[in-house]
Amino acid sequence: MDNQPITFQFISEPTDVNFGGNVHGGSVMKWIDQVGYACASNWSSSYCVTVYVGGIRFYQPIKIGEIVKLESRVIYTGSTSMHIAIDVYSRNIKEKIFEKKTHCIIVFVAVDENGKSVQVPKWIPTSEQEIQMQEYAIKLMNLRRDIEDEMKPFL
Ligand SMILES: CC(C)(COP(=O)(O)OP(=O)(O)OC[C@H]1O[C@@H](n2cnc3c(N)ncnc32)[C@H](O)[C@@H]1OP(=O)(O)O)[C@@H](O)C(=O)NCCC(=O)NCCS
Repeated sequence: MDNQPITFQFISEPTDVNFGGNVHGGSVMKWIDQVGYACASNWSSSYCVTVYVGGIRFYQPIKIGEIVKLESRVIYTGSTSMHIAIDVYSRNIKEKIFEKKTHCIIVFVAVDENGKSVQVPKWIPTSEQEIQMQEYAIKLMNLRRDIEDEMKPFL
């Protein structure tokens, strides 16, 4: 199956501002969820819900009025879940080179009309980079399992 990245590009707007004058982290998280949803639904041809959001690292602020680019791709599929890697870039409109601003992994699950999880097509990595990305997703999944008890809500 086709695993072309799903890409969004747009200009960050004044309504995306935070109290410091740059783009609000909440706006970036919303875009990440949207592009991840588009990627997961495209892969599974199904409605999907977010089940897990990995650590999001904001490397540098995104400024208002910059061109923002989000790239998302499947890097691992389980039985009903899809692990989607998302990179966020931005650039000043007058400059040509995008800088990476954020990266994260989101896990989506395909669900039917009753909200019950359903099987997804298997993703098989082909290139060396895809194999490494799949190994990375499996490593993170195992790490999460190891710390799951520690991460349980306090109350
Ligand atoms: C998604 C949902 C239907 C799954 O329910 P379920 O089928 O009973 O859950 P399961 O425990 O069987 O897990 C389903 C898949 O999610 C994966 N999953 C569950 N918890 C996970 C976690 N913490 N991290 C990564 N994957 C996880 C499981 O590994 C499984 O994947 P697999 O089938 O590929 O092996 C249910 O959890 C749900 O409705 N959650 C709310 C989703 C939502 O509203 N999202 C928006 C949040 S604002």
